[in-house]
Amino acid sequence: MNQHPVGIFDSGYGGLTVLKEIIKKLPQYDYSYLGDNARAPYGTRSFESVYHYTLECVKWLFAKGCPLVILACNTASAKALRTIQQNDLPVIAPDNRVLGVIRPTTEKIGDYTKTNEVGLLATAGTVLSGSYIIETQKFYPQVKVFQQACPMWVPLVENNEHNGIGADYFIEKDVKKLLDQSHNIDTVLLACTHYPLLKDKIKKHLPGGVQLLSQGEIVANSLADYFKRHPEMESRCSKQGKLRFYTTDSTDDFDAHAATFFGKSIHAEHVSIE
Ligand code: DGL
Repeated sequence: MNQHPVGIFDSGYGGLTVLKEIIKKLPQYDYSYLGDNARAPYGTRSFESVYHYTLECVKWLFAKGCPLVILACNTASAKALRTIQQNDLPVIAPDNRVLGVIRPTTEKIGDYTKTNEVGLLATAGTVLSGSYIIETQKFYPQVKVFQQACPMWVPLVENNEHNGIGADYFIEKDVKKLLDQSHNIDTVLLACTHYPLLKDKIKKHLPGGVQLLSQGEIVANSLADYFKRHPEMESRCSKQGKLRFYTTDSTDDFDAHAATFFGKSIHAEHVSIE
């Protein structure tokens, strides 16, 4: 039987936190995960680089038979998704689809806040793009988004230092910078797929009553809803519950780190993309 998995893409391991939630919600589908570890992190790279790398990875997943690709990376969603959807898709694969994680999150964010003030922790790339502010305005014009870039957090996680005391230093510093922007923030969104691994440490620096949200479940619910609204795409996705993992870097490193993000051990295959 032909394999037409849903493609899940991230610059590295972070998207595995999203894939984990997607599988919980929609276990029947096949999924192919691609981590561009060799070129991660994306968070500090230019728009051109993030767009170029993301497009290459999307094309690769299409070539693997994926009719639908989820950019499970905020930085790629912020810097590359729109151009890929508007300029590239019509030319390279008009019947395929690429979705991101920012829209599903901003469609729901207003339901979580009572003060209408949301704090956002993300990579510098996501913050600079202003995407969350722009998208939130569309769905909840009354909601104000305060942003804080946390440039050290992805490297801490990628280097397996997220449980160390070095992580506490940077987390405290960046969370404080966010909360200093307003005392009315009642909801803090982890707008980077790596950050759920830092959740316990982040919580220690949030005042009681401030809720901390990660995106995995929100994105999973949104995908389920997308499939309901798009039966033509749903029927193209194969359903044998098969999982495959690919990385552009060392598979040994991937296998060693990925379990932390995914919750169980993984065996990845190496791919060259350029
Ligand atoms: N996990 C990606 C995100 O959600 C960023 C990681 C990176 O900087 O590559 O933004």
